[in-house]
Amino acid sequence: MTRSLLHEILDYANRADPYPLYEELRKTPVHHVDDGAYVVSTYYEIRSLLHDPRISSEARHLASTAHDPLAAAAQEEDGVLPPSFLRLDPPEHDRLRRMTNRPFGPPHSPHRVDGMREELHGIVSDLIDGIGDPGRIDLVDQFSYPFPVTVICRLLGVPREDEARFHSWADTIAASLDPDPDADPAERGKEAHEARMQLGMYLAGLIEQRRKNPRDDMLSALATAEGPDGAMATMELLSTAALLLIAGHETTVNLVTNGMLTLLRNPDVLRRLRADPRLAVPVVEELLRFEPPVQLLPQRTPLADIEVRGVTIPKGASLWLVLASGNRDPQRFENPDRFDPDRRDIQHLGFGSGIHSCFGAPLARLEAQLALSELARRLDNPRLLQDPPPYRQNAVLRGPRHLPIACDGIRP
Ligand code: HEM
Repeated sequence: MTRSLLHEILDYANRADPYPLYEELRKTPVHHVDDGAYVVSTYYEIRSLLHDPRISSEARHLASTAHDPLAAAAQEEDGVLPPSFLRLDPPEHDRLRRMTNRPFGPPHSPHRVDGMREELHGIVSDLIDGIGDPGRIDLVDQFSYPFPVTVICRLLGVPREDEARFHSWADTIAASLDPDPDADPAERGKEAHEARMQLGMYLAGLIEQRRKNPRDDMLSALATAEGPDGAMATMELLSTAALLLIAGHETTVNLVTNGMLTLLRNPDVLRRLRADPRLAVPVVEELLRFEPPVQLLPQRTPLADIEVRGVTIPKGASLWLVLASGNRDPQRFENPDRFDPDRRDIQHLGFGSGIHSCFGAPLARLEAQLALSELARRLDNPRLLQDPPPYRQNAVLRGPRHLPIACDGIRP
């Protein structure tokens, strides 16, 4: 029974609505699947494991992923670059995260994200202006997909004339994260590998330029940093830049797309958001709980035997934490299956928790808030053309592949 439930979650037929399956899963908070993986699905247990120093994120501790389609799907590194801090434990994780944070957030750079507000607004406006026929819009291809890559380019300091190349590498890498049953996996793996190489070489060149002539961007700051931790080695810097690109890409695509889908299914909230853009703040928070772009973390390993709710998860086992299920746990949230931006108590797991909790969260929040409030304001009488829309294959980074919508016109 355990096995079939997990297979059902992975089954593409259930991608549009996995939530009843998560409800079933929560009846056994710690599932032991036949092939060895332990799946944790309740809020408090997930949270406590995310804060447990005996749980490793390092890829070298992972059990083989050959039979683990979830872990394989979530793999974002292929040996071209050293592991990024997403896949490192302390003290290396802390050192690299601290150094990356210096030019990004408080206390040293409290204005980096907020200082991008106008630029983000400009990117959103340009994308909406370029939509074309309002009778048939694919929100993913025309809006949510190009948006985060452009943002990361601006954050890192990629020159405008190189953005198109950057988009094409990002698209190839993102496509490789989404297993396509019709595509030859070896061929796609090769393409993704090639894209990573090209991206790496491009970034290496840009880092060299910025070292000589620094500007006011993250890459320059990281390339010339001389904080208490010293300077980042070039390879570390490359891994970090690639991490920012990849971790901020598919996730933000899905947050914006899930957001519009959820608003169109809840027209009263959409109306309120149009009347008051400040509602975007609680709307985005509730979305991160209700439809989190990262549904589960399949890549943790206990470094010791750990007992959770009477079950011993043995050292070295493959451990999956189902964030999206924790977010719907009735032990933690009242009426968890209701989308309610007026909720007062909303400590969701959408950005994870503990030392690896999302580094880009302030930027992701601002991106989604601006995108959704502008879409609500400017699309005249928007409606869904297909519900549910077609989803991506990926069960980890879950979201619609297309979101066909129509509206009566685009407001200025
Ligand atoms: C809606 C958008 C986003 C969501 C839902 C999201 C979600 C997450 C989650 C769940 C984690 C924890 C992973 C783990 O514990 O293994 C994470 C980590 C991370 N995210 Fe995000 N993310 C988003 C956007 C971004 C953006 C825009 C950036 C970059 C600017 C970013 C950069 C990172 C990085 C660098 C980490 C690794 C942190 C660490 O290991 O210490 N994310 N994110």
